Amino acid sequence: MLVDSYGRGIEYLRISITDRCNFNCIYCQSKKPWKWLSSEEILSFEEIEEIARVSSELGVKRIRLTGGEPLLRKNVEVLIKKLSQIAGIEDLSLTTNGYFLEEKALILKAAGLKRINISLDTLKREKFKKLTGKDELNKILRGIEKALEVGFNPIKINVVVIKGFNDEEIIDLAKLSLDKPLEVRFIEFMPIGKNPLWNESKVFYIAEVKRILESFKKLEPVISVGGGPAKSYRWEGALGKIGLISPLSEHICKNCNRMRITADGRLRPCLFSDFEIDLKSALRERKTSLKKIFELALKKKPEKGLKNFTLKPMRAIGG
Ligand code: 5AD
Ligand code: SF4
Repeated sequence: MLVDSYGRGIEYLRISITDRCNFNCIYCQSKKPWKWLSSEEILSFEEIEEIARVSSELGVKRIRLTGGEPLLRKNVEVLIKKLSQIAGIEDLSLTTNGYFLEEKALILKAAGLKRINISLDTLKREKFKKLTGKDELNKILRGIEKALEVGFNPIKINVVVIKGFNDEEIIDLAKLSLDKPLEVRFIEFMPIGKNPLWNESKVFYIAEVKRILESFKKLEPVISVGGGPAKSYRWEGALGKIGLISPLSEHICKNCNRMRITADGRLRPCLFSDFEIDLKSALRERKTSLKKIFELALKKKPEKGLKNFTLKPMRAIGG
């Protein structure tokens, strides 16, 4: 088991497999324009597999593939199949903008993917276009339907709440949890990558989200498994759940169970700190073992993240 200097067990690894994305979401922008990585700069499937295997030997039990948009990576199902065969990995999941799910959900399920999280911040076509830069709301909704149809369960829907933008849709979005096994998760808008579009006045705090949800129907707490940052609830009688994630207003750091691998192959102990270790070079040069790199990262994992400090955009860190 990987345990950091503050006694936190790390059993979850998020791997960004590409920095590319076909969307350009408001919350994913950075101060400096991001220069796309070349194919040599990102990790190969073999490298990702080796990282997954070594980290599972060290006690990692859950892996999530992120991006950019991970489904843009060609033949991603081949990677998923390989990762799903690693004995110690009990949970393999993926975070996507949903664009390719209509075509790919079945193939992904067959390859051994266990769970998916889909970003969906608004149910209004014009807003969706404004938020992502693409007029594709209906395609995403079809993608979600397809994912349900092929049997992904639960499916988590990520909603970043931006004050004055989608906060009046909180109840409508949460209603998706009523008759489908969807977990709709509301997330506070975080200042990542010195996002020029972020400022404190756009943050809609989770306490207020909760109040709005309760004004519609009573929320019942649900015991969540997996130790993530979300607190889970259910509207009475609903098939799905509602998750509340408050990276800004609550200290979620004390239960942190994860590290990240960035699209350019660096091991990043904390989302809110730009400290990273070059795992990719270690892997390619074969001078330092991956185990050593993981141990160093554990030692350096900060107790708490510093807000509004990171330079790297979310698309490179991996959601
Ligand atoms: N604040 C909060 N969540 C974010 N995400 C990306 N950028 C931000 C941000 N600035 C999350 C969204 C998205 C996933 C890929 O990462 O939930 O769905
Ligand atoms: Fe793409 Fe996700 Fe970033 Fe949106 S948040 S631009 S979908 S990587």
